[in-house]
Amino acid sequence: MIGRKWRNILLILLSSLVNLYAGDFFKNDEIENRIDLLLSKMTLKEKVGQLNQVSGTNKDTDEQIRNGRIGSFLNVVGAAETNRLQRIAVEESRLGIPIIFGLDVIHGYRTIFPIPLASACTWDPELIKRAEQVAAKEAAVSGIHWTFSPMVDIARDPRWGRIAEGHGEDPFLGSVYAKAKVEGFQGKDLSDPKTIVSCPKHFVAYGAAEAGRDYNSVDMSVKMLREIYLPPFKAALDAGAGTFMAAFNDLNGVPASANHFTLTDILRHEWDFRGFVVSDWTSILELLSHGIAGTPEEAGIKALKAGVDMDMMSFIYVDRLINLVKKGELSEKLIDEAVRRVLRIKYYLGLFDHPYMDETLKKEILLNKEHLELARDVARKSIVLLKNENQLLPLKKEIKRLAVIGPLADSKSDMLGTWHCQGRSEEVTTVLKAIQSKLPKVKIKYVKGCAIQDNSKKEFDKAVRETKKADATVLVVGEAEFMSGEAASRTELALPGVQLALVKELIKTGKPVIVVLMNGRPLTIPWIADNASAILEAWFLGTQSGPAIADVLFGDFNPSAKLAISFPRNVGQIPIYYNHKNTGRPPGEEKFTSKYLDAPVTPLYTFGFGLSYTNFEYRDLTLKTEKINKSGDLIATVKVKNVGDYDGDEVVQLYIKDLVASMSRPVKELKGFKKIHLSAGEEKNVVLKVKASDLGFYDHQSNYFVEPGMFKLFVGSNSVDGLSTNFEIIEK
Ligand code: GLC
Repeated sequence: MIGRKWRNILLILLSSLVNLYAGDFFKNDEIENRIDLLLSKMTLKEKVGQLNQVSGTNKDTDEQIRNGRIGSFLNVVGAAETNRLQRIAVEESRLGIPIIFGLDVIHGYRTIFPIPLASACTWDPELIKRAEQVAAKEAAVSGIHWTFSPMVDIARDPRWGRIAEGHGEDPFLGSVYAKAKVEGFQGKDLSDPKTIVSCPKHFVAYGAAEAGRDYNSVDMSVKMLREIYLPPFKAALDAGAGTFMAAFNDLNGVPASANHFTLTDILRHEWDFRGFVVSDWTSILELLSHGIAGTPEEAGIKALKAGVDMDMMSFIYVDRLINLVKKGELSEKLIDEAVRRVLRIKYYLGLFDHPYMDETLKKEILLNKEHLELARDVARKSIVLLKNENQLLPLKKEIKRLAVIGPLADSKSDMLGTWHCQGRSEEVTTVLKAIQSKLPKVKIKYVKGCAIQDNSKKEFDKAVRETKKADATVLVVGEAEFMSGEAASRTELALPGVQLALVKELIKTGKPVIVVLMNGRPLTIPWIADNASAILEAWFLGTQSGPAIADVLFGDFNPSAKLAISFPRNVGQIPIYYNHKNTGRPPGEEKFTSKYLDAPVTPLYTFGFGLSYTNFEYRDLTLKTEKINKSGDLIATVKVKNVGDYDGDEVVQLYIKDLVASMSRPVKELKGFKKIHLSAGEEKNVVLKVKASDLGFYDHQSNYFVEPGMFKLFVGSNSVDGLSTNFEIIEK
């Protein structure tokens, strides 16, 4: 009798052999035959049960599992509980079909990493992949098979609170992270018990909600959909994503959860997706509120026919489809197709072969030292240095007296950010605590100064007094954790409450003040940008927020992050993003050009921007050849030198502009980047490669093509500054 360990190894070997012959994803005859056989035994009741996802358990759910009414749970955690429920499904229901347990593992399970918008500023997909591998491990040993992640919605409107959950405004960068996260979660073999199946969401264009108001309507050309909002989903699919989640919003008049064009024509027919689609929470029932269904039955038919396979919390599939089949209003074949897709993923997860999780693993996995160290590393690399006048930073560790001030300087609960899964605030190290442990001999005075959003200034005097006495002040301000994420749109993006007044009071003292921002979205901080000597954008960095910020403040880490999202100067500029069109009257001195009377047209901080404690100089941008054909590669080389005193990382970014085309093209488009490390004084040749086939665009008939003509190439440290040269794509 082989032991459990060898059995698992054998299983993994066997299933990876199966996968070797699986071709591209989820195509395997042996599994299809098993599904055929099982389907042939299932009653209609058992079939619709597989399409029913329930959140949490109650007094009835055990019996419902026994009767085959529940195919999936979300929000049930802990291997003991998931095993208990799984035993009922596998050993007490008629066919023993295992349950798939899903959860929002968005930026970590128990070890919480920075929110996705923060880690998107690392420009380090390999690092993010490792973070998701940790998240997958921690979730898997806790009984979870499936994460409703990565959220890959492109967003250009920071009024939308869910901008915190995505990877910013750019489809190229968003696609890089979509791939990295799917690979991180799923690994090479979904039946490996330490991997979980991913779920790119929210399909599609949820981030374009009108006016940044969550759940609001979306209306755009299919050209825009294909060029901006679909690419990250396609990248996730190409990386092997096993499920997708349909979005809440209506898209061009058809709600995403009933949108046959996106869910079937594109996702299944064009892209050949073979996993399953889950609705968003009650998004099938919400078709009534959208006004495209008059009854739950109608909603169920529309969603199923459009391509939604599993019903999250509407209970329409499980309660209404049987009758519809009996009345001849719905073909059972359609239900069979949906059930097939759900069973396919359950087979690939290996749930039929090993349905239970080893309950002893969690203690060595959850929140272990290695995971915490990785979380600290991702956090440090997510911090964007926005300003550093006269090299105020890094602070000297020999500082005599330091004031640590602000409502977020010692707030455990906010550090974790939105969607913090099983993260616990008591496990967070705050900025104050981290500085105290880093500098035990320094006199550190803490004053909260004010709350995040009430208007009391009663602690201002005390804060001013401590700033006057201190050699430097670290002032930590921003949003509360609940102010970003789902159902958290804001019409104002300034610091809430009286925080700006506190910043002004402390800066007025003339003493050195470092402003540390904690927020889930770009904020409008023009006064701070003009008047603070140093500004760190620290987002919500998760469990290791404090140590990471302290490492940057005191030079144990040289900040290298680059913004994945533009910062507007004010809400009136929104939407504002770097890859905009030139217009026929680009902004200029002339009155009759595209600009505002009361503000510049440029953002406060541009996409790709971020400073370092050192400086990098670019020179000698050359091309291997100035002419390439449509199937050719453009190879650019540039010299980058670290001309400062600190070793550091630099993100060398490559943008292109199609100078003349049959349709107007953006002024710049990110098409490549490389993150390099340079010791002080070191210079490197950086080689960047771009495929000509990636420089095309869509027409209004959804034809993608690359047009010959002249292009400009930009290489630099952000989306504005850098070197440029021209190249040509030629016909043949
Ligand atoms: C929520 C979110 C979705 C999440 C789901 C389950 O409403 O829109 O992103 O995965 O419900 O929690």
